[in-house]
Amino acid sequence: IIRRIILLAIGYMTGIIQTGYIFGKTKKLDIRNYGSGNAGTTNALRVMGAKAGLIVFIGDFLKSFIPCIAILYIFRNHPGYKYTYMLYIGFGTVLGHDFPFYLNFKGGKGVASTAGVLTALDVRIMAACLVVFLATVIKTRFVSLASILVMFVFVGMCFIFSHYWFTGLGTGALVEFRILSAAIGVLSIYRHKENIKRLINGSENKLFSGKKQS
Ligand code: G3P
Repeated sequence: IIRRIILLAIGYMTGIIQTGYIFGKTKKLDIRNYGSGNAGTTNALRVMGAKAGLIVFIGDFLKSFIPCIAILYIFRNHPGYKYTYMLYIGFGTVLGHDFPFYLNFKGGKGVASTAGVLTALDVRIMAACLVVFLATVIKTRFVSLASILVMFVFVGMCFIFSHYWFTGLGTGALVEFRILSAAIGVLSIYRHKENIKRLINGSENKLFSGKKQS
């Protein structure tokens, strides 16, 4: 249990590196006061342009991808729990990204950070999520809807395929693995609750619409 808490804590400490907020500050603005008020990639793109969006995505992606890959390497000889430990540190980074203590716990929605986790986890899950994300964005131009659907794909694949793909996992580690993947997905969907309301009432911002919302 101590090891799991340490992994969550290390993840949290890397997750609080808020690329969107930091990049905004270099432009002398608090990104959370603009657009959707979110400190993530989509809002960086919306408020500060494509270059900013790309930089924020890369930063938020790497801050979870690198620790996750490091855990897989460190525990490479422990197939029984290395993927579960990886999800602990990954969940920690998402928590840090969403709830950074030094920004009054007001951060992002964990999409780019979750992308880093699932890319480190399995290339098939990453490919499926990427296809669903791109297809949804191209079809609807709602990044939020694409992000929410990706969470369902991620958690669904973790539940269905973990037993076959991560065969080294012991029974207990497999249960923890599934709970952690669900926690990551549910947290991100919960963080999209305002987007869900806007999607339902038809006021959600479309990508490249140029329309701002508060
Ligand atoms: O990156 C999060 C995305 O799914 C929605 O962002 O700014 O439109 O709330 P935003």
